[in-house]
Amino acid sequence: MLFKQQALLRQKLFVLGSLAIGSVLYLVARVGTLDRLQPICPIESRLPPPDPEQIPLRTLQFKRALLHELRKGNATKEQIRLHNLVQQLPRAIIIGVRKGGTRALLEMLNLHPAVVKASQEIHFFDNDQNYGRGIDWYREKMPFSFPHQITIEKSPAYFITEEVPERIFKMNSSIKLLIIVREPTTRAVSDYTQVLEGKERKNKTYHKFEKLAVDSGTCEVNTKYKAVRTSIYTKHLERWLKYFPVEQFHIVDGDRLITDPLPELQLVERFLELPSRISRYNLYFNATRGFYCLRFNIVFNKCLAGSKGRIHPEVDPSVVTKLQRFFHPFNQKFYQITGRTFNWP
Ligand code: A3P
Repeated sequence: MLFKQQALLRQKLFVLGSLAIGSVLYLVARVGTLDRLQPICPIESRLPPPDPEQIPLRTLQFKRALLHELRKGNATKEQIRLHNLVQQLPRAIIIGVRKGGTRALLEMLNLHPAVVKASQEIHFFDNDQNYGRGIDWYREKMPFSFPHQITIEKSPAYFITEEVPERIFKMNSSIKLLIIVREPTTRAVSDYTQVLEGKERKNKTYHKFEKLAVDSGTCEVNTKYKAVRTSIYTKHLERWLKYFPVEQFHIVDGDRLITDPLPELQLVERFLELPSRISRYNLYFNATRGFYCLRFNIVFNKCLAGSKGRIHPEVDPSVVTKLQRFFHPFNQKFYQITGRTFNWP
């Protein structure tokens, strides 16, 4: 009996001992692995030192919730005073191009805690009546923001309107200008699709794209058609260059913003001299929409409205080729001036 009990005790001790040795060995191995997983130097020391001028971003992130409330029109005079909120003139403007992805760009930049967007297209510089209302009227159209934030507005009509460069120059000659472009023929078809949808909504008939884009008399590209003219990017840009140096423009690839937005946004962050804060977390692909959508935080996310990402009508391939050949020399010039080359045909 005694012998049996001693054997049982020895067995138990052996199991406990094995467990203890096993745990120690596991911990040693784990610590070793963890050690190897640690970066050689802490991540903070590999980032560029924070710019002393820069905004305390963590604070801004926290205060974003407040700004969100204010945007909904819930701001009291007391809150505005208490938080030193101001309506600032834009320090950067998305001047075009219509159907290039201007809304997506603005919304995506608004993910950055140091950026505040003007929600509506203000059409201050391209509309004589609005322009006549003066700069204070324009400022009052801007959202409330913290003094260190950057306000951005977008009105794509600015890019193609004659008077706009001079007017913007008079407001701020060092403003940063963003232009988002897409392959010119696709952009023209997208432009047409938007107008077509408007006509259909009013039960009106409309010409086919081919009829508008090609002159039936000469069989040449119809340069009087606005959707074609808007896609001759270099012609418009040259007018802007009479006022602003090329360094003040940043060209965004609208086709890449659709398929892989983050690298494009990171380039814009650099151009705006903002720390890189938009991350993969903020952008997720929505298979139903067929586009990237925006994630602000764990509870708040959104996709762009259904009017963005319309299905284009099929266009006669010979007309597509004709347009592509027509745009080709203008595109070459555009690449040359801007220093950004695209794989457009
Ligand atoms: P289509 O409707 O031709 O697809 P804008 O805002 O300047 O009017 O540009 C509209 C275009 O933005 C759309 O053109 C769409 O392709 C593009 N776009 C880019 N990113 C998008 C996104 N994440 N969601 C929806 N549309 C996006």
